[in-house]
Order: sequence, then C-alpha cells, then structure tokens
Amino acid sequence: MDVQSILGPLCDLILAANRVCLLTGAGISAESGIPTFRGEEGLWKTFRAEQLATPTAFIQDPELVWEWYDWRRGIIASKEPNAGHKVLAEWEELFPNFTLITQNIDGLHQRAGSQNVVELHGNIWKQRCIEENTITVNHEVPLKEIPPHCEKCGALLRPHVVWFGESLDGSTLHKSFKISSSCDVMFSIGTSAMVQPAASLPLSAAQAGAKVIEINPDPTPITGSADFSFRAKSGEFLPILNEELKKRTKQKKD
Ligand code: APR
Repeated sequence: MDVQSILGPLCDLILAANRVCLLTGAGISAESGIPTFRGEEGLWKTFRAEQLATPTAFIQDPELVWEWYDWRRGIIASKEPNAGHKVLAEWEELFPNFTLITQNIDGLHQRAGSQNVVELHGNIWKQRCIEENTITVNHEVPLKEIPPHCEKCGALLRPHVVWFGESLDGSTLHKSFKISSSCDVMFSIGTSAMVQPAASLPLSAAQAGAKVIEINPDPTPITGSADFSFRAKSGEFLPILNEELKKRTKQKKD
C-alpha cells in the first residue's frame, strides 16, 4: 500500500469520524528502547512467563518476581515517551470523542501527556496489597524493599498488573468493548494481537462497522480485518499521519 497515495483519503476518513478509539501494545514503546514481549529480543524470548508473570510464580517466589519487575521498572524509568506516544497525546485535543486503550503497563502514554488512558493490564508503578486489595503508587527505582510489604497491614504487595491466567478488571473490560464496538475509527498500534481479550477489541470494532487502521512493521491476526494496514513503525508513521491531519484540519478552517 503506497502511503502517500492513500494518506489523503485516510485523513479525510479519520477527520470525518466522531468517535475514535485506539488499542496500543508493546510495539508503541519499542522505539523508546523498551523491549516488546514476542519480538526478536522480546521478554518472553529471554524469560519464562510462567516463572515470572503468573499468580503461582508469585506465591512460589515473590522475591524473584519482584526482582524482575524492579529490573523492568528501572528500564522504563530510564526511557522517554517517543514521537508515537506524543502524537496520541495530541489527538486527545484533535478528536472530540477519543479513547486510548492500552495493554502496556509502562505508563509512557501518561508521561507523554495522555489523560484519558484505559489500562487493560494494569500499571507497573502501582502495587496491590494481597490481603486488603488496596492499590498504592510507588515510583522508587530501585525498590527499597524486595519484596515490598503493605504499610498498613504488613502483608505482601504484588505488582498491580494482570498476569497470565488472571482475568482483567470487569468494568474496564466492559467499558473497552462498549467503546470499541461503538467507534467510527479503530486504530490497532504495536500489538501482535496474540493475547485475549485485548486482541478482540479491533475485531469487535470491525464487526460493528468501524474502519480499522493497523500500524505494525509485521502483519498480525488483525491485518485481514483491517481496512488499512501499514507496515511501519508507529514512532515514524504517526508523526507523518499527524502532520497530514493537522494540514487538512487547517485547510478546512481557512
Ligand atoms: N511500531 C509499531 N509496532 C511495533 C514496533 C514499532 N516500532 N516494533 C515492534 N512492533 C510490533 C511487533 O511487530 C509486534 O507485533 O509490536 C508488536 C508487539 O507484540 P508483543 O510483543 O506480543 O506485545 P503485545 O501485543 O503488547 O502483548 C500483549 O502480552 O505478554 C503479554 O501482558 C503482556 O500486554 C502484553 C500482552
């Protein structure tokens, strides 16, 4: 698909939309230097998910699990949001009805300025008491105590993230499917679409008649259902798309 030739019609379609929804994955943070999960140097190529990202692994060895999250927090803290994150933060102003749903736990969308972020898989900077379920925010890098404990009751704290074998928060999931199945344009950016239920969001949008736009250097299970699928890096393609959108918005105003 020759980008330049379709950039115009694509922008007209996007600007005509009332409700715009996006799903992002680890790929949008790749250009910030944060490893993806299933890419060449992906985390799951180096580490065993069942040893580090399951409730059983945590019960068996909370120290090992926390050492791994502490390591990941250190990487994320040392990185900056990239141009892709920044464009999506700008789009909150550009589109009247805009929802950013992310699988990422790195918090880079918020650091780029996005306010209205739906975090499907939790957030690495939040911790949850395994007794009281209270959620606290902790930005210590490195963590002073591994494993950390609840200041109130002394119980173990766990990362406030969704592990394999765990269900997502019901109201967050319900809200996400409600928004994706009622939007006019749905973006799927930087996700391999291998993990459910997140991977079904763009498909529910397609089934409801929305236009689906995918941005990913590699094809995914969503590519066949997308109206537009760009083999591109989000940090490179989103600024190009954004410039064209802004140019056309201005032309419309003049
Ligand atoms: N721009 C856009 N996409 C990119 C880029 C980039 N610069 N670099 C890589 N990608 C794409 C890859 O081609 C791949 O399809 O991003 C995707 C990343 O896929 P995964 O590593 O599988 O990450 P993600 O889809 O977010 O994983 C979903 O799985 O491990 C769990 O809970 C974890 O939220 C995560 C979920």
